[in-house]
Amino acid sequence: MRNARWKAASRAAVALAGAGALVAGMALFTTAPAAAGTTLGASAAEKNRYFGTAVAAGRLSDSAYTTILNREFNSVTPENEMKIDATEPQQGRFSYGAAEQIVNHARSRGMSVRGHTLAWHSQQPSWMESMSGTALRSAMLNHVTQVATHFRGQVVAWDVVNEAFADGSSGGRRDSNLQRTGNDWIEAAFRAARAADPGAKLCYNDYNTDNWTHAKTQGVYNMVRDFKARGVPIDCVGFQSHFNNESPYVSNYRTTLSSFAALGVDVQITELDIQGASAATYRSVVEDCLAVPRCNGITVWGIRDSDSWRASQTPLLFNSNGSKKPAYDAVLAALNNGTTPTDPPTDPPTDPPTDPPTTPPPGQGGCTATVSVNQWTGGFVATVRVTAGSSAISGWTVGIALPSGATVTNAWNANRSGSSGATSWTNVAYNGRVGAGQSTEYGFQANGTAGTITPTCTAS
Ligand code: XIL
Repeated sequence: MRNARWKAASRAAVALAGAGALVAGMALFTTAPAAAGTTLGASAAEKNRYFGTAVAAGRLSDSAYTTILNREFNSVTPENEMKIDATEPQQGRFSYGAAEQIVNHARSRGMSVRGHTLAWHSQQPSWMESMSGTALRSAMLNHVTQVATHFRGQVVAWDVVNEAFADGSSGGRRDSNLQRTGNDWIEAAFRAARAADPGAKLCYNDYNTDNWTHAKTQGVYNMVRDFKARGVPIDCVGFQSHFNNESPYVSNYRTTLSSFAALGVDVQITELDIQGASAATYRSVVEDCLAVPRCNGITVWGIRDSDSWRASQTPLLFNSNGSKKPAYDAVLAALNNGTTPTDPPTDPPTDPPTDPPTTPPPGQGGCTATVSVNQWTGGFVATVRVTAGSSAISGWTVGIALPSGATVTNAWNANRSGSSGATSWTNVAYNGRVGAGQSTEYGFQANGTAGTITPTCTAS
């Protein structure tokens, strides 16, 4: 259920993005079938997903670039500006200007931000490249803490660790100065990131992990499974998906996405580009994501071919002159044809429910609410999912009794009454209307211990 927070943020961002998106979103709830989105972001949002792009701060002064960015996308990943060499060019001296330019551009337009990346063997500043051992471990953890703290609340998801696995048949870790500080460097980075920004999704991100049969894919899979088993705080796995002749799209990609999702993490396609931009391949990638409920977003690695790090491969959705390529049309059509995910099934109940339902069952309208909690020592984030029954609702109120000692410190996507004991939560302007069987989410952070929270839901 941790993906709920992501989707809530994404949906909220889209709802704020502008009248066009808002109208499209409302149409979803008032007409059937859902209206087709006319932009990538709006169409993805109708499927409870985001569609993002890498952004370079230096291009924000190019109006042809920002016109497409602002029109089409509802998520942004700084292409280089949040990397270690950009944010900590000298040890202990942090530099956030270019990253903030992108974050401000995105957030002021209702786009969400993916943070990329906190710990990586590449694009290290020279002071870090020459470090090793415990000094490097401390410097890395300090970097994670400082940067994640600086952007706390502004970044929906962090690529905490990037590209830590080796290519080839070993299935093991890549050698690097970070790896040589000890095999636990990855989980240490995730723990530091969680402590610094408990509200952000924490992702592991890599390339050449698309083919389910490859050793590298299996190596990452085994790490994520181990992390989930041991309670290492990981929420999502990013698949860069730079497809080219050496590393082509394969039809088992969907199996890869769904297999990772089955571990209890969200999956995202984080840096998509396809050599030659075959419309059919782009369509397949989008269809694969939409087929996996926990695949909650796609990011292409640049806007126009001329913006691409691999420009000569013409791998993106827009020509260098800004016009839409056939791949664009294929992606938009696939998004509009896609299914809207319901949350992945939670663990099957071990006992039949004995208590009568506290909210009207489906078929009599009303709404139900479920909550998922991310608890750490001294605090927690709760994500609450409100689901309409068999009829659309135009507003909702959720009641939550917090145990003593639990105090709400901040909240998103809902109006709150009360911060401890009996609390009441009502929809905000953009998430009151919920279609029959559809869901929306809000969340809050609190001090103390959540225990078992049993929400009630009343529709209006
Ligand atoms: C690339 C950028 O696009 C280039 O501008 C830069 O010169 C090198 O890095 N995997 C990643 C991304 O995680 O950060 C890389 O981005 C592409 C490969």
